[in-house]
Amino acid sequence: MWEEFDITKLPYYDPKVDNKVALVTGGNSGIGYYTVLHLYLHGFKVYLGGRNSSRVNHAIKEIKKEAEIRLRKGQDEKPHDGLMIRKTGKLEYLHIDLTDLNSVEKAATKFTVQEDHLDVLINNAGVMAIPYELTKDNFEIQMQTNYVSHFLLTMRLLPLIKARKGRVITVSSLGHNLIFFNCNPGAQFNYWPSMFFMWCRYALAKTASIQFTKMLAIKNPDILCMSLHPGLVMNTNLFSYCTRLPFVGIFFWILFQFVGYFFGVSNEQGAISTLKCALSSDLSAETDNGAYFTTGGYPSKPSRVANSLDNAASTWIWTVHELRDRGHEI
Ligand SMILES: NC(=O)c1ccc[n+]([C@@H]2O[C@H](COP(=O)([O-])OP(=O)(O)OC[C@H]3O[C@@H](n4cnc5c(N)ncnc54)[C@H](OP(=O)(O)O)[C@@H]3O)[C@@H](O)[C@H]2O)c1
Repeated sequence: MWEEFDITKLPYYDPKVDNKVALVTGGNSGIGYYTVLHLYLHGFKVYLGGRNSSRVNHAIKEIKKEAEIRLRKGQDEKPHDGLMIRKTGKLEYLHIDLTDLNSVEKAATKFTVQEDHLDVLINNAGVMAIPYELTKDNFEIQMQTNYVSHFLLTMRLLPLIKARKGRVITVSSLGHNLIFFNCNPGAQFNYWPSMFFMWCRYALAKTASIQFTKMLAIKNPDILCMSLHPGLVMNTNLFSYCTRLPFVGIFFWILFQFVGYFFGVSNEQGAISTLKCALSSDLSAETDNGAYFTTGGYPSKPSRVANSLDNAASTWIWTVHELRDRGHEI
């Protein structure tokens, strides 16, 4: 059992003085929602990267309301770090559809026009265990949403991240352990029974996310790159494909609730690992670059496959070639 970390101990910033900027993909629901809430409470201007304007704008309203309530109650309002009054940051919507590489390019360009630096990029958005489908860029949908598009987004924003020695945090999953032998990230796993192989496709994408972080750290020692498992957070929308299936959906729902009850954490607790990586001043590029964390922000070790630098290098080369073939030069 992990000991709950007090998020209010993480540094607060004055939006006017420090001008801290973060981008969180999938910031409108689940773990991303609470990640955005706390960055906002810590004085960040946060861009919520999302594909649906009404869902993101609704989340922005809710986060502002929630932040106001917490500030009124005095939570998250312990003045320290020289700040006498707690000041919230700002929230902005950035349109990005991760199933479309052109949308990723447009989002990166728009961000670059609006900001001259990025302190924290959080590659959080994801889909899990959904049927086999190819995106219009001809990638398997879980591979593109969870990994390839985040690779492209990170590479496009790298100059802004480097501008103030920022951080790149990529949300992976414990589920990556399902890939226990080295395989090409282009493997489609489009086999029967699809109910099993859809989990393998998720695991492959999350393995690639950890390998990407490791290579990014090696290639860019001046910025801090980390990946993590947020915890088992059973009440987010991530499980909705399985729980909405006719007939068997109810069994999935019961199974997930059971797992959540004994081993799970809340949506807000699921954001702790990300927030520690984003904000903790105990972490540095010199000592923690490429590291992997688990529930509650504890350092951990990913699978042998994900940890291998040879595999990470092959995944990197595969991604650069695949993107180049589709007209996106890295
Ligand atoms: N929950 C867990 O137990 C758990 C465990 C391990 C890892 N994770 C990882 O944690 C991250 C957050 O998951 P969550 O549990 O918070 O799930 P969630 O509530 O479903 O959040 C996923 C977010 O990703 C966004 N997204 C999905 N496809 C997208 C696309 N094509 N373009 C842009 N945004 C897209 C969703 O936007 P819409 O609202 O528009 O769909 C949503 O905001 C994921 O990477 C997941 O793999 C979760």
